Amino acid sequence: MSEENPNSAAAAAPIATIATLGRYEGQSVILHGWLYNQRESGKLLFPIFRDGTGTVQGVAHVKSVSAEVFETLKGLTQESSVKVTGKVRADKRAPGGYELDVENIEVVQRVPESDPYPISLKEHGVEFLMEHRHLWIRSPRQSAILRIRAEIMRAAAEFFDSNGFIRTDPPILTPAACEGTSTLFPVDYFGDPAFLTQSGQLYIESTALALGKVYSFGPTFRAEKSKTRRHLTEFWMIEPEVAFLELDGLLELAENFLSHLVQSVLKNRSSELEVIGRDKAKLEAICPPFPRLRYDEAAEMLNQAYKDGKLENPFEYGNDFGSPDETWLSSQYNKPLMVHRYPSDVKAFYMEPDPKDSRFAMCVDVLAPEGYGEVIGGSQRVSSYELLKSRIEAHNLPLEAFQWYLDLRRYGSVPHSGFGMGIERAVAWICGLDHVRETIPFARTLHRIYP
Ligand code: 4AD
Ligand code: MG
Repeated sequence: MSEENPNSAAAAAPIATIATLGRYEGQSVILHGWLYNQRESGKLLFPIFRDGTGTVQGVAHVKSVSAEVFETLKGLTQESSVKVTGKVRADKRAPGGYELDVENIEVVQRVPESDPYPISLKEHGVEFLMEHRHLWIRSPRQSAILRIRAEIMRAAAEFFDSNGFIRTDPPILTPAACEGTSTLFPVDYFGDPAFLTQSGQLYIESTALALGKVYSFGPTFRAEKSKTRRHLTEFWMIEPEVAFLELDGLLELAENFLSHLVQSVLKNRSSELEVIGRDKAKLEAICPPFPRLRYDEAAEMLNQAYKDGKLENPFEYGNDFGSPDETWLSSQYNKPLMVHRYPSDVKAFYMEPDPKDSRFAMCVDVLAPEGYGEVIGGSQRVSSYELLKSRIEAHNLPLEAFQWYLDLRRYGSVPHSGFGMGIERAVAWICGLDHVRETIPFARTLHRIYP
């Protein structure tokens, strides 16, 4: 029985999803789902069912259903799995616009009273919820966030696929660091040391020189000892890399990309944004062009903010921005802020120096508004063999492991640029969440690897 065929003349009711109930108004349908909650009022039962696509309230009167159905439903326990048959009725007051007049119910598994579903509908602490993350994701809010995450990932791939980029997947097991040696996860590779990848960048630089415009999309790992609300040890990164692209072009790519993500979520996951109570007006403002600031200008703003008592600690020129600095900077604009040309000393070894002043790198951090901070980091890459070699040495990286990477500068080197966006940072911002732990089905952090 296909939900695409609501007028099927077959005897049994069609199987529907809660999200598509509108197609079946006035008809009986079968829902496959779970009991989310139930209210009883004398002879009336108001069960709320969920099926992964949404929630719907059912109505059962003692006289409208058989005694057996009424008894089965009455006292049914939270999260019991069910197949419910009912007639779809439009109701303007209902959250999804429809209610279900229950006709029949088949219990697939009844959760026993002796071992009830651990997450009751009262408030729980975050630690408890994270410990029960495998169940917590069933809540309307958490499942809405995961749907938005999926849309962000879909739209991100769509953006590159439809703009001439070829997806090339870099390895996850790697012999060397990309983003500094302090956050590497070591792996024993048949007796040789290896690491989980921190970024696919170095590898997609080579595929960019082979294919022109490429991107990678996969899990990346950082042994981050930081406990901030922005850091995971395992996260998903999407990284474009483009041959013959310089910093200005990279900034345009980043603003078009982020705008596409936000507009896609507004278009395709509008009801989920409502479920989580996101202020859509803030997202509607996200379109090119984004404001651009040199690092120096941003540093000056931070100094002023400190003088005005808006920042607790003074910003020390020459450092990378701390979380409070980024939070303050990004809350000054209603669009993502692109900060470019940081001092080379605080950035990665592979960044091209500014030809106008080599103390600065041709790089960009994109800081999301509303205080979310960095969502994208990228740069133009060093294209000179000699400079790259001396950078690798200066950073005490093992030269042997980077010979293949140096080959890209030996054979047909060109200016090229790319960036990386952490999916979880983007989800946290677009959903308006306090912490990245809710943006991924199973967060991996300094103190959590269960469930
Ligand atoms: O700024 P990062 O370290 O840049 C790179 O890895 C470059 N190799 C990317 C490139 O140019 N191709 O990381 C890129 C992005 C950050 O802006 C942030 O969104 C995310 O990855 N990110 C993290 N997200 C969650 N937890 C962490 N520990 C993260 N570290 C980086
Ligand atoms: Mg960064």
